[in-house]
Amino acid sequence: MPIEATINGKPVSITAEPDTPLLWVIREELGMTGTKFGCGIAACGACSVHIDGAVTRSCSVPVSDIAGKAITTIEGLAPHGTLHALQAAWIAHQVPQCGYCQSGQLMAAAALLAASPKPTDEQIDAAMTNICRCGTYPRIRAAIHAAAGQA
Ligand code: FES
Ligand code: FES
Repeated sequence: MPIEATINGKPVSITAEPDTPLLWVIREELGMTGTKFGCGIAACGACSVHIDGAVTRSCSVPVSDIAGKAITTIEGLAPHGTLHALQAAWIAHQVPQCGYCQSGQLMAAAALLAASPKPTDEQIDAAMTNICRCGTYPRIRAAIHAAAGQA
Protein backbone atom coordinates (compact mmCIF):
# COMPACT_ATOMS: atom_id res chain seq x y z
CA MET A 1 0.00 0.00 0.00
CA PRO A 2 1.39 3.44 -0.83
CA ILE A 3 2.67 5.61 2.00
CA GLU A 4 0.92 8.99 2.11
CA ALA A 5 2.84 12.00 3.39
CA THR A 6 3.45 15.65 2.63
CA ILE A 7 6.74 16.84 1.17
CA ASN A 8 7.39 20.56 0.92
CA GLY A 9 3.67 21.22 1.33
CA LYS A 10 2.55 18.84 -1.40
CA PRO A 11 0.85 15.50 -0.78
CA VAL A 12 2.83 12.52 -2.05
CA SER A 13 2.01 8.86 -2.42
CA ILE A 14 5.16 6.76 -2.05
CA THR A 15 5.36 3.27 -3.48
CA ALA A 16 8.85 2.29 -2.29
CA GLU A 17 9.30 -0.73 -0.01
CA PRO A 18 8.52 0.31 3.59
CA ASP A 19 12.11 -0.24 4.78
CA THR A 20 13.62 1.96 2.05
CA PRO A 21 15.55 4.84 3.63
CA LEU A 22 13.71 8.15 3.29
CA LEU A 23 16.82 9.66 1.65
CA TRP A 24 16.57 7.20 -1.24
CA VAL A 25 12.89 8.01 -1.74
CA ILE A 26 13.57 11.76 -1.74
CA ARG A 27 16.40 11.47 -4.25
CA GLU A 28 15.39 8.52 -6.45
CA GLU A 29 11.59 8.35 -6.32
CA LEU A 30 10.81 12.05 -5.90
CA GLY A 31 13.80 13.36 -7.88
CA MET A 32 14.87 15.99 -5.34
CA THR A 33 18.65 15.81 -5.24
CA GLY A 34 19.41 18.73 -2.92
CA THR A 35 19.49 16.32 0.03
CA LYS A 36 22.84 14.53 -0.04
CA PHE A 37 24.19 11.09 0.80
CA GLY A 38 27.34 11.19 2.90
CA CYS A 39 27.78 8.30 5.29
CA GLY A 40 24.49 6.41 5.35
CA ILE A 41 24.79 5.75 9.09
CA ALA A 42 23.35 8.95 10.63
CA ALA A 43 26.84 10.28 11.39
CA CYS A 44 27.44 13.20 9.01
CA GLY A 45 24.14 15.06 8.59
CA ALA A 46 24.41 15.59 4.81
CA CYS A 47 20.97 14.01 4.44
CA SER A 48 19.20 16.23 7.02
CA VAL A 49 15.55 17.09 6.44
CA HIS A 50 12.74 18.18 8.75
CA ILE A 51 10.07 15.69 9.77
CA ASP A 52 7.18 17.55 11.40
CA GLY A 53 9.69 20.34 12.05
CA ALA A 54 12.36 18.19 13.72
CA VAL A 55 15.72 17.94 11.98
CA THR A 56 16.29 14.29 11.08
CA ARG A 57 18.96 12.32 9.21
CA SER A 58 16.95 10.84 6.38
CA CYS A 59 19.44 8.09 5.51
CA SER A 60 18.45 6.29 8.69
CA VAL A 61 14.66 6.69 8.63
CA PRO A 62 12.60 3.95 6.95
CA VAL A 63 10.07 5.59 4.68
CA SER A 64 7.28 3.77 6.52
CA ASP A 65 7.99 6.07 9.49
CA ILE A 66 6.86 9.18 7.60
CA ALA A 67 3.26 8.08 6.95
CA GLY A 68 1.01 11.05 7.69
CA LYS A 69 3.93 13.36 8.42
CA ALA A 70 5.15 16.61 6.87
CA ILE A 71 8.65 16.56 5.41
CA THR A 72 10.63 19.62 4.42
CA THR A 73 13.75 19.29 2.29
CA ILE A 74 16.20 21.97 1.22
CA GLU A 75 14.00 22.50 -1.86
CA GLY A 76 11.20 23.59 0.49
CA LEU A 77 13.19 26.04 2.59
CA ALA A 78 12.28 28.97 0.32
CA PRO A 79 8.80 27.92 -0.77
CA HIS A 80 7.71 31.21 -2.33
CA GLY A 81 10.96 32.12 -4.03
CA THR A 82 12.16 34.39 -1.25
CA LEU A 83 15.33 33.08 0.34
CA HIS A 84 15.14 31.94 3.94
CA ALA A 85 17.11 34.35 6.15
CA LEU A 86 19.70 31.62 6.60
CA GLN A 87 20.16 31.15 2.86
CA ALA A 88 20.68 34.91 2.47
CA ALA A 89 23.19 34.89 5.33
CA TRP A 90 24.95 31.85 3.82
CA ILE A 91 25.45 33.85 0.62
CA ALA A 92 26.48 37.03 2.43
CA HIS A 93 29.06 35.13 4.48
CA GLN A 94 30.14 32.93 1.55
CA VAL A 95 29.75 29.89 3.78
CA PRO A 96 30.10 26.98 1.34
CA GLN A 97 33.41 25.67 0.11
CA CYS A 98 32.76 22.46 -1.87
CA GLY A 99 29.10 22.79 -0.84
CA TYR A 100 28.36 19.10 -0.39
CA CYS A 101 27.35 19.32 3.28
CA GLN A 102 25.58 22.65 3.06
CA SER A 103 21.98 21.66 2.42
CA GLY A 104 22.15 19.52 5.54
CA GLN A 105 23.82 22.34 7.47
CA LEU A 106 21.05 24.74 6.43
CA MET A 107 18.32 22.32 7.49
CA ALA A 108 19.98 21.85 10.88
CA ALA A 109 20.38 25.61 11.27
CA ALA A 110 16.75 26.26 10.28
CA ALA A 111 15.53 23.83 12.95
CA LEU A 112 17.82 25.51 15.49
CA LEU A 113 16.48 29.00 14.74
CA ALA A 114 12.88 27.75 14.82
CA ALA A 115 13.52 26.51 18.36
CA SER A 116 15.97 29.22 19.52
CA PRO A 117 15.61 32.43 17.49
CA LYS A 118 18.73 34.02 19.06
CA PRO A 119 21.07 31.12 19.81
CA THR A 120 24.28 31.52 21.76
CA ASP A 121 27.58 30.11 20.50
CA GLU A 122 27.07 27.21 22.89
CA GLN A 123 23.58 26.48 21.53
CA ILE A 124 24.92 26.64 17.98
CA ASP A 125 27.75 24.25 18.79
CA ALA A 126 25.34 21.86 20.53
CA ALA A 127 22.83 21.88 17.68
CA MET A 128 25.15 21.95 14.68
CA THR A 129 26.61 18.45 14.75
CA ASN A 130 26.75 18.05 10.97
CA ILE A 131 30.20 17.30 9.58
CA CYS A 132 31.88 19.63 7.08
CA ARG A 133 35.04 18.15 5.60
CA CYS A 134 35.97 21.63 4.32
CA GLY A 135 35.89 23.10 7.83
CA THR A 136 33.37 25.89 7.21
CA TYR A 137 32.25 25.83 10.85
CA PRO A 138 33.31 29.43 11.72
CA ARG A 139 31.39 30.83 8.74
CA ILE A 140 28.36 28.66 9.55
CA ARG A 141 28.32 30.06 13.06
CA ALA A 142 28.69 33.66 11.82
CA ALA A 143 25.88 33.21 9.30
CA ILE A 144 23.55 31.74 11.92
CA HIS A 145 24.16 34.77 14.15
CA ALA A 146 23.52 37.07 11.18
CA ALA A 147 20.24 35.36 10.37
CA ALA A 148 19.10 35.11 14.01
CA GLY A 149 15.97 37.07 14.63
CA GLN A 150 15.11 37.30 10.93
CA ALA A 151 14.26 33.65 10.26
S1 FES B 1 24.21 10.43 4.95
FE1 FES B 1 22.79 10.55 6.55
S2 FES B 1 23.95 11.22 8.26
FE2 FES B 1 25.43 10.91 6.69
S1 FES C 1 31.56 22.76 2.34
FE1 FES C 1 32.64 21.00 1.72
S2 FES C 1 31.96 19.46 3.09
FE2 FES C 1 31.14 21.29 3.87
